[in-house]
Amino acid sequence: MTSYSEPAGNLPPNLASHLHARVTERMKRIADFAIDHRPTWDLCCDHGLIGLWAWHTHSLPELHFVDRAPGLVDAIEQRLSSSLSDDRIAFHSRDASTLSFGEAPSNIFLSGVGFRASQRILAATCQSTTPHRLVVSVHAEAERLHDAMEEKGWRLAGETQVEEHGRVRKISAWDGQGALELVPGKDLRNSL
Ligand SMILES: C[S@@+](CC[C@H](N)C(=O)[O-])C[C@H]1O[C@@H](n2cnc3c(N)ncnc32)[C@H](O)[C@@H]1O
Repeated sequence: MTSYSEPAGNLPPNLASHLHARVTERMKRIADFAIDHRPTWDLCCDHGLIGLWAWHTHSLPELHFVDRAPGLVDAIEQRLSSSLSDDRIAFHSRDASTLSFGEAPSNIFLSGVGFRASQRILAATCQSTTPHRLVVSVHAEAERLHDAMEEKGWRLAGETQVEEHGRVRKISAWDGQGALELVPGKDLRNSL
């Protein structure tokens, strides 16, 4: 049986039961790669379940939800406002490739998008000299992303795979820093 980090019990009961009903094994495994005491970014967060699970199971100083789809992040904010009001949680309704993560080493989750979307986001965001923990699970061309990250000098901290809706999803955690120009800039245009 798979074991995960134990929930810290830091969510109110109604939110905890909502989360437990919806979070999947894949999401738990992604969150499980988070390093305690680091700001944590749930990129392309959709309903925010991965970030919320990480918050529930780890000791995190900040949590950031990011999604560019109109209304999604607002909906998370609204849900949390009635049950979990915490000024350490931030909401960003924008394209993840426009973010900068600041100086603190962070956990960055990026999952549920394709190879090209990931490389566009990573190329734009991973430009600092700060070492981050990057947890990626793309839904297409996972091997290609893996090879590209290795080639760029990111260090594989762990990997696993999980079946979801009949498909095997690979999850890998990387430690590193610096630019992630995985492909020449021209290939990144119109890649979403
Ligand atoms: C299939 S959901 C993945 C949700 C979650 N990360 C997971 O793994 O279950 C993909 C989400 O990525 C968001 N998305 C795609 N490209 C994005 C970008 N460049 N910036 C922010 N959000 C993006 C979409 O709006 C959508 O909500």
